[in-house]
Amino acid sequence: MRAIELIHASEAHTLATPIFDENSKILLSRGVKLKASLVEKLIQLGYTRVYIRDEHTESDIEDVISPEVRQKSIGHIRKLSALATRQNGSKNVKEEFEKDLTFAKASISSIVDDLFTKKDVVIELMDLKTVGGYIYEHSINVMVLSLILGTSIGLNRSDLDKLALAASLHDIGLMFVPQELLNKDTPLTKSEFEIVKRHPLLGFEFLKKSTNLSPLVRIPVLQHHETYNGKGYPKQLDHSKVHLFSKIIGIVDAFDAMTSDRPHRKALPVFEVIEFIMASGGTLFDPELVKAFIQRINPYPLNTIVKLNDGSVGVVAKVNKDLFSRPVIRLIRTKSKENSRIINLIEEKNLVIQGIVHKA
Ligand SMILES: [Fe+2]
Repeated sequence: MRAIELIHASEAHTLATPIFDENSKILLSRGVKLKASLVEKLIQLGYTRVYIRDEHTESDIEDVISPEVRQKSIGHIRKLSALATRQNGSKNVKEEFEKDLTFAKASISSIVDDLFTKKDVVIELMDLKTVGGYIYEHSINVMVLSLILGTSIGLNRSDLDKLALAASLHDIGLMFVPQELLNKDTPLTKSEFEIVKRHPLLGFEFLKKSTNLSPLVRIPVLQHHETYNGKGYPKQLDHSKVHLFSKIIGIVDAFDAMTSDRPHRKALPVFEVIEFIMASGGTLFDPELVKAFIQRINPYPLNTIVKLNDGSVGVVAKVNKDLFSRPVIRLIRTKSKENSRIINLIEEKNLVIQGIVHKA
């Protein structure tokens, strides 16, 4: 299984995972052939990528949480966000919000249970981005990534529950920002950005007024855009005053945002984002957390088709757990027409991966 851009999909491709609509209902099941008319419809609906089965990549890769659990969680966040925009602070909304929060907490808690037992989980695939749901999907991705980072630095179960809830609500303040600014397909102007920058405070105030959530859940909502060098927002806090949960959510929030398609730009490749995050340890992000985070992200998962610096193309056949950037590759195309050779990039010092190939 591998992800491809829909514009490269054809009848030869079969879906390897279901596709969900924005209400978390299955739109297309696993195993469906991607006929031209279907591809066209998906593109019209705003989908950009799908997971396919193909001859180069036989085995399937498991997502960290199942597509069904992910969709259920997205449904909870969607509902909480919709409630937040209705009569901010009124008694009815407050009661309804608390009730839905209980459901969300239960579902988040089962994800925490699941991830808590998988201490060596590595992020290899994030779910496909569905149409019009960036904020909700982003919230769930940030939750899963926060849990992976939180687990790897040894947070206890009770902290992980709070961290997960904070992560899933971290951008709830965006509900109080004009939606046209969030959907703009050009970069924000300075004054527009100033408006968007209010979302941490608006989210924090909403949760304070409308819920009985622990301050440990509310504080990261306020602080997730503070940076290590004290130049973040809203308060330009020194890093000694920024809570650990806020720092965790800050890193994974940046990672997921940069690896996602946005209205004003395409997603960046994971390996480029990893480079950026590594380079920002000590300026934007806490250097120790950066170290722990990058050990959990594999930019070239099993079955990824990659291009090497000598022009050859191959499939990742085995991941080197100590050095994700140098996996074992089964060549499928080389300049000398020689193929099927297996090379271990740990041994082939002159070869490096140049990028991921989406159309093999
Ligand atoms: Fe944010």
